[in-house]
Amino acid sequence: MAISVSRTPLWCLLQQRANNMPSLKDLFQADPQRFTHFSASACGMLLDYSKQRIDTTAKLNLLALARQQEVESRRDAMLRGEAINHTENRAVLHTVLRLPRGETFNLNGENIAADVHKVLAQMRSFSDAVREGRWLGYTGKSIRTIVNIGIGGSDLGPQMACIALAPWSQKNLSLHFVSNVDGRHVADALANADPETTLFVVASKTFVTMETLTNARTAREWMLAHGCPAEQIRQHFVALSTNVEAAAEFGIAPENVFPFWNWAGGRYSMWSAIGLSIALYVGMDKFEEMLAGAHEMDLHFAQAPLEQNLPVLMALIGVWNINFLGLQALSIAPYHQRMTRVPAYLQQLEMESNGKSVTREGQRVDYTTSPILFGEAGTNGQHAYFQLLHQGATIIPTDFIVVAEDDAGLPGHNKALLANCFAQSKAMALGKSMQEVRAELGDLPEKMLAPRVFEGNRPTSTLLLDSLTPRSLGAMIALYEHKVFVQSVIWDINAFDQWGVELGKSLAQQLISLDPDAVKEDYDSSTRGLLQAIRRRDKTTQINKQLQ
Ligand code: F6P
Repeated sequence: MAISVSRTPLWCLLQQRANNMPSLKDLFQADPQRFTHFSASACGMLLDYSKQRIDTTAKLNLLALARQQEVESRRDAMLRGEAINHTENRAVLHTVLRLPRGETFNLNGENIAADVHKVLAQMRSFSDAVREGRWLGYTGKSIRTIVNIGIGGSDLGPQMACIALAPWSQKNLSLHFVSNVDGRHVADALANADPETTLFVVASKTFVTMETLTNARTAREWMLAHGCPAEQIRQHFVALSTNVEAAAEFGIAPENVFPFWNWAGGRYSMWSAIGLSIALYVGMDKFEEMLAGAHEMDLHFAQAPLEQNLPVLMALIGVWNINFLGLQALSIAPYHQRMTRVPAYLQQLEMESNGKSVTREGQRVDYTTSPILFGEAGTNGQHAYFQLLHQGATIIPTDFIVVAEDDAGLPGHNKALLANCFAQSKAMALGKSMQEVRAELGDLPEKMLAPRVFEGNRPTSTLLLDSLTPRSLGAMIALYEHKVFVQSVIWDINAFDQWGVELGKSLAQQLISLDPDAVKEDYDSSTRGLLQAIRRRDKTTQINKQLQ
C-alpha cells in the first residue's frame, strides 16, 4: 500500500510553515521586492502571485513536494503517450492536437499527428465552404445560422472560445449553443432560425449522450417538419465524434463526420474536431493560431524549470491554499467581458478532472482535492459576490485574469476596468484596519466601525495577458489544463476519467417514464414522493383541460 502524500515529512513541514505564516501585510513590509520574487512570465503572460500567503521557505518546500511526487517524470509520461488514464487504459494526448504541421507523434506504431492534421484540413475545407457561402442548404441558400448541439466538453470549450474571440467572427453568421436536455433550450435556439439556412453541428465524443441525442433528434424533426426532404438533410447536419459509426447510424453522411480519438478527453477536446464551431465562427486561421498558443504553453510546461514553470507554480499555489491553509474554494474573476464563460469552462476542467477521492491505487484520500470553483466577469462580480470575498467568514482565494490592451478604445473604460481589478486584489490582501476606519470616521461606537473593517490577508493571484487573441486564449487555457494535471499528480489521483457522472446518468434512464409505480420496491421515499407529486400535477392538469 503506497504511503499517502499527507504522511510524508515534507507535507508536515509545509503544514507547520502554513500554521506560522505571517500576514500578507507583514510579508509585503518585510520584502519590498516581493513582486519580483513572487511573479513569473511566459508565453506573453505574467503571473503575479505575490498576494498569495506564501514565503520563500514555503515555495521551496512546495517545489520539493512537486519533485517528491515526481511531477516531472509523470509530465513526461503523459507527453510521451503512456496510458496514464489507467481506469480507461488511455493515453492523454490533447497536446498532440496542437502540434505544428509536419511534426510526428507515434502512438502504437501510428503517426497520430498526421491524423490530426488530416482532420484539421477537413475542418478548413468545410469551414471555408460555409463561411464563403458555398455550402448550400436544401433550397440552395448559403448557411447563415450555426447551432452547436453538445454538452460538457462538447459545448463549454467552443462556446467559451467563440465568445472570447467574437471580434474575429464572420458577421453574417449567427451561432447558438444548445446543451441542456430542457426543451426550452433548443426551442429558443430554433425560434428565430430559418431551416433553409441553418447548420447543426452535433458534437459528442461518445455519441451516446442523452442530452445531445435528444436535442439532435428534435433538430432533425424540426428540419423535416419545415419541409427539408429527408435525402437532403445531410446538408444541414455534421457530427464531431470519436464514434463515427454511431454518428452514421444517426443518419449523418460519413463525409460530414469529423473524427477525433479516445486519447483526447472530453474537457480537453476543444482543440480537436470539437472546435469546428470555433473554426466556422472565426475562421480556420484563427483556430490554428489558438492551437499555436496552446502549443507554446505545452513547450513551456515541458521545458521550463519548475521554479519558473507557470502551470507548476499555479498548481502549487492551489495545493498550498487548499491543503495547508484550508481554503477550499477558488473564485475566477476575468476582467474582460468576453471571458464571461471562462469560469464555467474552468469549472468543468478543474472539478470534473480533480473532483476525486481515491488515489490511483484506489485508496481513499485523507486530504482535500479539487477546489470548489465559481466565478463571474469583473466588474460585475464586484457587485454580487465580492462582499463575501472581502468580508465573509469563509476565505476564498481568487484568480484575477486581466488584459492590458484596450481594444474597445472607448475613453474612460479600460483604465476604470484595470483600476478596479488591481483595487480588488489590493483590498483583499491588505484590508483596512479598525485604526484606519476610526481615523476616517471618528470615535463612533464599535457596532458602527466593525462592519467597515476589512481583515485583509485574503490570497489572490493576477494573471496579466498582454491582449486577448486566439493565441493568448490558447496559451491561457493550456496553462490551466497543465495546472490541473500537476495538481492531480500531487494528489495522486487520475485527472482524466469521470466516473462520478455515471451513476446519475443510469438512474435517469431508470426514471425516464416518471412512473412512481414502475420504480423498484426499494426506492427511497423522497424519489417516490417527487414522482407522485408530478403524477398528481399531471392528472390535475388533464382534468382542468377536460373541464375547459
Ligand atoms: O458529463 C460527463 C461527460 O462525459 C463529460 O466528460 C463530457 O464532456 C460530456 O459528458 C459530453 O460527452 P460527449 O461529448 O460524449 O457527448
